[in-house]
Amino acid sequence: MSAPHPAPPMALLAELTHRCPLKCFYCSNPLELVRASGELRTEDWLRVLDEAAAIGILQVHFSGGEPMARKDLVTLVRHAAKLQLYSNLITSGVLLTDEAMAELLEAGIDHIQLSFQDSEQQGAEFIGGYKGAQAKKMDAARRIKNAGLPLTTNFVIHRHNADRVGAMIELGAELGSSRIEIAHTQYYGWGLLNRDGLLPSREQLDRTSEVVEEARARLKGVLTIDYVIPDYYAARPKACMGGWGNRFMNISPTGKALPCHAAETIPDLALPSVRDHSIGDIWAHSEAFQKFRGTEWMPEPCQSCDRREIDWGGCRCQALALTGRADVADPVCEKSADHALLAGFIEQADINAPLKARG
Ligand code: SF4
Ligand code: FES
Repeated sequence: MSAPHPAPPMALLAELTHRCPLKCFYCSNPLELVRASGELRTEDWLRVLDEAAAIGILQVHFSGGEPMARKDLVTLVRHAAKLQLYSNLITSGVLLTDEAMAELLEAGIDHIQLSFQDSEQQGAEFIGGYKGAQAKKMDAARRIKNAGLPLTTNFVIHRHNADRVGAMIELGAELGSSRIEIAHTQYYGWGLLNRDGLLPSREQLDRTSEVVEEARARLKGVLTIDYVIPDYYAARPKACMGGWGNRFMNISPTGKALPCHAAETIPDLALPSVRDHSIGDIWAHSEAFQKFRGTEWMPEPCQSCDRREIDWGGCRCQALALTGRADVADPVCEKSADHALLAGFIEQADINAPLKARG
């Protein structure tokens, strides 16, 4: 049985804002989006970065929403660089003008991850609800490359675009990506709400996997392709967040410290705020971060399973969303008594199911 361990998190996920010019149907942000007036102030974020460096965190990922919607992004990147934190910007790219790129570069940004909704304009505009986004993203990719920064391109796959995965990989390669992420939608937030219209068929998943494997072999040594399958087709769950309270800390736009991006969905989980506590204190002592840390909390079948320190029982938020309880094995696991639920969700998926866009 592993004891809760106090080693610092490897990375801080700074969700600067929920504001975003795009309105993707699969967005993992919560259904209740935070307004600008509720967001942490610049000085709060600067203090959080100080505290992160002080406890030995090595990386900070600036995300959202669209982190470039924050006017102080360059200030925060500059501060992270001063603290020798490796900084990654996770962006849709539609606000990445020449001027913004120059400012971020001067401030010391280390890496940019650029998301695409599709390989082609029509599909991208259908999913993201932003006219002209595809051209802006292509320009953003060129700016990132011209700045000499490593580029990761990210494509989210679902029922409406899975058949274009080959073209997505070609686009990512043409743009000079050092890494391409092909990630099937994860069903949280708006993605969960729109699951029926987004979940791919088994045939689509199998074709996607074949195309990715072929491209991986062909592009070996040129670039890396990360591939995330939809949990609902898996036999074993993912180690969500690398284990609860194990490797990552998320800070929400309002300053709540979260063990994962969907932790606010778990009822009765007292989530501490960085407005009131240091992140070192939160990491080591808060009830929220200890609740599902390690293996002691686990019921069967996880408690006696030889994968309990590999996947840490899967995802607490998915267990909650699918069974109503966060403290049971993730139903994605074949050993879970609730595993049969997934076949029902796959069965009811339909490309004509209505999709609701985030506000
Ligand atoms: Fe993971 Fe629990 Fe399933 Fe074992 S029983 S594989 S620990 S979810
Ligand atoms: Fe919360 Fe997986 S998203 S534990």
